[in-house]
Amino acid sequence: MIDRRNLLGTLAATPLLAAASPARAAARDRAFPRGFLWGAATAGHQVEGNNVNSDCWVLENVKPTLFAEPSRDAANSFALWPKDLDLVRDLGLNTYRFSLEWARIEPEDGLFSTAMLDHYRAMITGCHARGLTPMVTFNHYTTPRWFAMRGGWTNPQAAGRFARYCERAARHLAAGIGHATTLNEPNIMNVLRVVLPEPVVAAQHAMLQAAARATGAAKFAAGNAIEIDEVDGATTNLIAGHHAGRAAIKAVRPELPVGLSLAMFDDEAAGPGSLRDIMRQRLYGRWLDAVKGDDFLGVQNYERQVWTATGRLPTPPGVPVNYMGSQVYPPSLANAVRYAHAASGLPIIVTEHGVGTDDDRIRAALIPAALTDLRRAIVDGVPVLGYVHWSLIDNFEWISGYKVHFGLHRVDPVSFARSRKPSASVFAAIARANALPA
Ligand code: BGC
Repeated sequence: MIDRRNLLGTLAATPLLAAASPARAAARDRAFPRGFLWGAATAGHQVEGNNVNSDCWVLENVKPTLFAEPSRDAANSFALWPKDLDLVRDLGLNTYRFSLEWARIEPEDGLFSTAMLDHYRAMITGCHARGLTPMVTFNHYTTPRWFAMRGGWTNPQAAGRFARYCERAARHLAAGIGHATTLNEPNIMNVLRVVLPEPVVAAQHAMLQAAARATGAAKFAAGNAIEIDEVDGATTNLIAGHHAGRAAIKAVRPELPVGLSLAMFDDEAAGPGSLRDIMRQRLYGRWLDAVKGDDFLGVQNYERQVWTATGRLPTPPGVPVNYMGSQVYPPSLANAVRYAHAASGLPIIVTEHGVGTDDDRIRAALIPAALTDLRRAIVDGVPVLGYVHWSLIDNFEWISGYKVHFGLHRVDPVSFARSRKPSASVFAAIARANALPA
C-alpha cells in the first residue's frame, strides 16, 4: 500500500525535483508525483446500451417514471469499447475507470454468463494492450432486475448475493485489474435524502410502485432508487456488501488494491451554529467507519455546500454554474480530498470529478484550476494516488437522460461517432506532462 511517506518520497525522487536551475525549480513547482494515475471514467449502464436485465431499465420504461427518457443504445459502448479505449490512450492517460454490469454477468439469480465475463476480460486485455491500467468498479449503482425484485439492498440477503457475484467476477477478471472498487457512491442515498425536494421523493415512490406492479414484485428497490425511509437499513446491507465483496475479491487476489468511492461535497461552515459537522456525519459518517481496512478511498466531487445554522446557502450571483445552477467551484475538489483523507486516514484516488455543462469552456477552466489545488494538497502531505475525470464521453445521465453532458468527448446520437472537446486537450496536456501548465 502506498502511504503518505512513500508518496512524498516519490515526489522528492522525481528527477525534476533534484534540479537546481530556476527553470527546473519552476517545473518542480508544477509536477505531480511519479506514477500518478491519470484517467477518465465511464459506467456500464451509462454507456453500454441495452442493459435490459437491469433495475434501471425497468425504472426508465415504467409509467410514471422520473427518467426524462430511456437509456436505449446509450453510447453503444458494449460494441464500441475498443474505440473508447483508443480515446483514453490518445489523450495520453494511463488509467481507464469502467464498471462491470452485474445484470449482464448474472442475469438470473445464481446464473453466471461466461460470455459476459469474457467480454469484460477482453476490455481489461484491451486496456493493457494500450498501456492503460484498468480501474474496475464491480457495481456502479445498477443491480440486476431479479435483485431489485427481491428488495435490492433493503434485503438482508443482499450482501451475500453481492459477494457471490464479486467472487465469480474476480475469479475471471482480477488478474488483470489495477484497482478495484466494490461499490460506486453507496452513500448516494444519504446525499439524496438531504438534497431531494419533497415532490421528487413522492415521484420516486410512484415510480418504484409502478416498477413493482410491472414486474410482479412485492417490493422493487433499485441500486440508486429506494424509498427514503429505507436508507438506513439499506446502508447496513451495503456496508455488509462492501465488506463481503472486498473479502471475496481479496480471497482471489490478496494484493489487488480494493476500496470504494464516495460522493463527497466540499462542505464548508458559515456562521455560528453551522450544520456542517452534523451534515458530514449524515452524509459520510457510517461510510468513513466502513472503509477502515480498505487500501484506498475513492473521492467523487462535483460541488461544494456552504452550511449555515439552518440549511444550505444558495449559489451566489455572477459565478459560473453547472446544469443544475450550482456554482462550479474549483477548490471544492481539493477541499473534499483533504477532508476524506483526514477523516479516513486512507490514501485517496479521485475516482470522479467533472462538470455537467454544454459550455466546454467551463470544463476547460475547471480542470487546471482544480488540479492546481489538488497538487497543493499533495505537497501538503495528502496521499493522492490519481485523478480520474468524469466522463470520457457524453452518456446517459440517469434521470436527466441525454440532455446533460459531462463528457470530454461528444457522442453523435445516431452514428455514435465520438469527437474530442477542447477541454479534453487541456486535460491531456497536463496528464502527458504529469505537471500543471507553465
Ligand atoms: C456518478 C455518475 C454520474 C456523475 C454525474 C456520479 O455521482 O457516479 O454515475 O453520472 O456523478 O452526475
